[in-house]
Amino acid sequence: MGGEGRVVLVSNRTPAVFTPSSVEERRNLPVGGLVSCLRPFLETQGGMWMGWDGNSDGYVDPVPTTVADVEGISLASVSLSRDEVEGFYNVFANRTLWPIFHSFPDKATFSHDSYRVYRSVNRRYAAALMALLRPGDLVWVHDFHLFPLGLELRKLGWTGKIGFFLHIPFPPSEIFGIMPWARELLASLFDYDLIGLQTPKYLHELKESLGHELGAEIDGDTARHRDRTVKVGSFPVGADAQAFQEMALSQVPSRVSRFLEELPNDRQLLLGVDRLDYTKGIVQRMQAIEQLLDDHPELRGHVTLVQISAPSRVTIPEYARERERLDSLVGRINGKFGEVHWLPIHTLHRPYSQQDLAQLYREADACLVTPLRDGMNLVAKEFVASQTSDPGVLVLSRFCGAAESMDDALMVNPYDFQETASAIYRALTMPRPERQRRWKALFEDVSGHTAHDWCYSFLSALDDA
Ligand code: F6P
Repeated sequence: MGGEGRVVLVSNRTPAVFTPSSVEERRNLPVGGLVSCLRPFLETQGGMWMGWDGNSDGYVDPVPTTVADVEGISLASVSLSRDEVEGFYNVFANRTLWPIFHSFPDKATFSHDSYRVYRSVNRRYAAALMALLRPGDLVWVHDFHLFPLGLELRKLGWTGKIGFFLHIPFPPSEIFGIMPWARELLASLFDYDLIGLQTPKYLHELKESLGHELGAEIDGDTARHRDRTVKVGSFPVGADAQAFQEMALSQVPSRVSRFLEELPNDRQLLLGVDRLDYTKGIVQRMQAIEQLLDDHPELRGHVTLVQISAPSRVTIPEYARERERLDSLVGRINGKFGEVHWLPIHTLHRPYSQQDLAQLYREADACLVTPLRDGMNLVAKEFVASQTSDPGVLVLSRFCGAAESMDDALMVNPYDFQETASAIYRALTMPRPERQRRWKALFEDVSGHTAHDWCYSFLSALDDA
């Protein structure tokens, strides 16, 4: 990047994944999408990452402490009180913004008190960050937890560049406008220099909301509101393709090695990897498996779905209900088709490391990435990166950002479980030449648009903004 300053990332949480110093140890820790796309950049470029330390019961220190300094990366953490975690994270971020941005308005909660806490936590992040910033730093704010952070930094006198990237979808304006704070949130975006969205579609939706709600003028990649302007653009997140290729090929024993070694030759492996979230379509995926086994009795005993559903936001009622729904459905399907020597579905409610996942991806005959709505979904790209000469097939929801560039996947509407069941059957019976042709085309996209490329393209656009 142009200047002498550092790149300073700010997200809701700091990633624990930087604490171990060796690459091997880091690869053995589970990470989510946001961390897996930012980590490769920070590991090569260095810089600072600030966020909440993830605890909700500690002493609240108004000044953040640098908790770790690992190979040129400084991690600074903000502590939050129990009430702040509840109002800011549990309620406003995860029960208001999350369902609205994923177009599930019926699941959204609206509380002015939680909005007040959201704003005050953003003020605390800004004060904490101001104390650490140096002239020339490039500040890059991530995700919906921190929309007003740019505004709060400007109030404190920061005049340097600030970019914002939204990792989740941007909803249609009629859904966005349901929120009583829609205008205020949109107006706060004008304190950034650049706003990044995952896809051209979400960029279009943002522009629509800016026009409808604020009466902002849109001119190409510039939005104007009163006397202020902000650049907007789409920057699709990529995977760390090279790392996944290496991990998939490595013979390092992992938590899944024994399972893979013992898989019978006449057994095909289906794989699902998600946080346990109602947006991920896991329940609908199970319904598709039931349909598949009803339609094709010859597959019974010969196909197994390994569904990794890492627990997420577990104290939130919508998430607890989703877990109950999933467990009871899986119990019913396993009871209906299972035998003493075979169960159709294995659900694993715990996170797995990238190393474990790469080996599962490599061996899977098909990966089922079927969210009801998802900003991008890096599992789709990581699966493609991990394939070898006998590639598996990607079954992909048309409602995630990844669908915009992955035409060679088998595309499905995840609400239609009969269509999904047919696509899974097609994947399981697809001849090798077709699998190879599809995979090559997908691999070209995944290896040509990596996590590194994404970081550089956003940061150079921010530098120029
Ligand atoms: O991708 C959306 C996101 O909310 C990220 O901001 C976050 O890192 C990830 O999902 C996991 O969510 P949480 O931190 O709430 O567990």
